[in-house]
Amino acid sequence: MTLIIERKGDVALVTIDNPPVNALSQALRQDLWDAAESLDADPLVGAVVLICEGRTFIAGADVIEFGKPPMPPHLPDLVARIEMATKPWTAAIHGSALGGGLEVALGCRFRVAVPKASIGLPEVRLGIVPGAGGTVRLPRLVGPVLAAEMVTTGTPVTAQKARSQGLIDAIIEGDLEKGAIDFARAALDQSLPLPLSQRGVPPVDAAFWETTSKTVASRAKGEDAPLRALGCVRKATEADFETAMAFERQTFLELRGSPQAAALRHVFFAERAALRPPELAGVEPRSIRSAAVIGGGTMGAGIAATLREAGLPVTLVERDEPAVDRGLSNLRSIFESAVKRGKISPETAAERLSGIVGTTDYSLLARIDVVIEAVFEDVDVKREVFGKLSAVCRPDAVLATNTSYLDPQQIAAHIKCPERFIGLHFFSPAHVMKLLEIVPTAKTAPATLATGFALARMLSKIPVRAGICDGFIGNRILKVTRAQAERLLLAGATPQAVDQAMRSFGLPMGPFEAQDLGGLDIAAFQRKAARARGETPFAPIAERLCALERFGQKSGGGWFDYAKGDRTPKQSEVVADIIAGEARETPQRAWDQAGIIDCVVLPMVNEASKILNEKVALRAEDIDLVEIHGYGFPRWRGGLMHYAEGRGIADIVASLEELAAEGLAEPPSDLLCRCAKSGQFVFTD
Ligand code: 3HC
Ligand code: NAI
Repeated sequence: MTLIIERKGDVALVTIDNPPVNALSQALRQDLWDAAESLDADPLVGAVVLICEGRTFIAGADVIEFGKPPMPPHLPDLVARIEMATKPWTAAIHGSALGGGLEVALGCRFRVAVPKASIGLPEVRLGIVPGAGGTVRLPRLVGPVLAAEMVTTGTPVTAQKARSQGLIDAIIEGDLEKGAIDFARAALDQSLPLPLSQRGVPPVDAAFWETTSKTVASRAKGEDAPLRALGCVRKATEADFETAMAFERQTFLELRGSPQAAALRHVFFAERAALRPPELAGVEPRSIRSAAVIGGGTMGAGIAATLREAGLPVTLVERDEPAVDRGLSNLRSIFESAVKRGKISPETAAERLSGIVGTTDYSLLARIDVVIEAVFEDVDVKREVFGKLSAVCRPDAVLATNTSYLDPQQIAAHIKCPERFIGLHFFSPAHVMKLLEIVPTAKTAPATLATGFALARMLSKIPVRAGICDGFIGNRILKVTRAQAERLLLAGATPQAVDQAMRSFGLPMGPFEAQDLGGLDIAAFQRKAARARGETPFAPIAERLCALERFGQKSGGGWFDYAKGDRTPKQSEVVADIIAGEARETPQRAWDQAGIIDCVVLPMVNEASKILNEKVALRAEDIDLVEIHGYGFPRWRGGLMHYAEGRGIADIVASLEELAAEGLAEPPSDLLCRCAKSGQFVFTD
């Protein structure tokens, strides 16, 4: 049963119960259709209230059905059927009314919602446009400007904004069912508003479309759906209802089968699957009611901020009082900047700051549930910290390190109860970046691992389990990205050309400007450590830049020059000379964008295949999530391995062999070659 119909006097209450999110499956569409038919025929019914069980109103079309042929009743027909019902329907919204859910609500004559509801058309996030009249009815209700913003960004609006813009007719405080029934009954005494399909659209001038197109195109960075969605809203303002509906449906069907939509669906499901790894099924995490962070520098402050955002009380431990003050001041800056950007109110910022105790006293950690260490990247300093933690913390408290490159097993070599120890690798800035690499050691208990995943859920992070190796998953692939970028310079490309090509691929920044932003010194430090281990890291030009103290924007120059107070990268003569000098022995060639992209991305796929084979990552999807949420890989390409699958492994192997023959990349891994031969996309022996 997905639908229950009850009579409440002259109002029929139609309750959808289709867990987990009341998505509009074919069965539910049919039930709603049948309900509209039977209620129209019932002389005792004057009005209908549509409400949902569970955590949310209808969250949209059933995304699982997108891979299959559409089955009737089609959603646009269902929305039209509800709109034409002889008894007026009122949508009673709690949780979220999203996509097809909002489209059904737009078919209803009225909409009411609880104060915490959110309402939106997020289809562009799945690479599609609304397909059941969202772009056509919404501008008729709220005007083209807000409609254009909602469909092109996919960002939902709050109930308060929806009310102020006329998207909903009332906010119901208290019991939603009762409030909605009272509203529907009271509406029977008044003249009914016209159905949206019979209303006109307020006009906007032509300049609006021009400027909005430019804004949307620059935000979309290669994604097709946002501009197509804007085109649909424009059509709705310029054509009659039926023509605009046909245009929207055609656009929806075209995009639904597109590679971008498939990629975005892949990411949607991968993100949700990541929160519940099958290998942890049935393992209970420890409860997390308090947290501590050791070290209040760049990472520690960001981690403390994200813990506070999740409502946890935080103890911040530093090495001396001035450092405590600096740590608290770092946190204050994070909260103040969130206030400036309108993300939180000054009251929330004050409340978050007041929930942090800064101290040098480890004994305050005796009752804490989770402790995350973010001190200097130095094994001796970290060991000393864990020695102290091991002595004061409860034996069942989870102790975590945020190390980027050190071996967590060495850090934890001497701690008591090593089964409670784990790596939790946040990305900078930790209060913004979604990725959390979770790195168990051989001794980590399943409950500790499960607690890492539970913490990620609390912090709204995307957790990915990573095995121990130099750089875990993300930074190990990053090393290859950077080495390839330097190989390109030696072979005739310029830093600008490489950055531009990678931006055209969809990355927010090229590899060189990204290094200038983050600082070249961190990687130089890692290379020094690698050399001490007997390795020979490849970064001939970066080494030369670091020797000149060209560490990036913070030192006024790195791969590029920067004018004071200006972050625009400018070509550097010094760097050009260094490249020319280093490249003397290397054959030079011309590079187009596609060639540059292949020379960077395909070796990343090669490294990822090794990572999977070594079980440093357990699933190809995990690599996709690491690249998207840690490094800005374009979401609409589905992540590194989804891109590789679409590109074809045989083609990738052939291209890698060509690059290797020119000395421009490592040869393809055995595993990649075997995948190419078998035609199977399976990256384990
Ligand atoms: N279809 C099918 N399954 C869906 C779904 C959907 N539209 N939305 C969520 N789910 C599933 C998830 O995959 C997850 O399944 P799992 O438990 O097996 O992993 C489960 O529902 C719960 O989802 P979340 O973990 O995301 O639950 P939250 O409570 O954190 O969030 C939500 C709830 C805000 C509704 C969130 O799920 C969400 O944003 N969903 C997507 C909404 C969306 O994109 N709607 C538009 C769909 S396209 C459309 O409607 C086209 C139309 O115009 C024709
Ligand atoms: P940072 O230098 O900004 O901060 C380190 C802080 O630790 C300083 O405030 C210092 O006073 C404090 N500290 C040092 N010894 C201490 C001790 N014994 N007790 C208490 N506090 C102590 O360094 P950052 O960048 O925050 O890095 C911290 C850790 O996070 C490192 O392990 C680093 O590898 C890792 N990391 C860094 C990332 C980055 O982008 N900066 C990204 C992910 C991880």
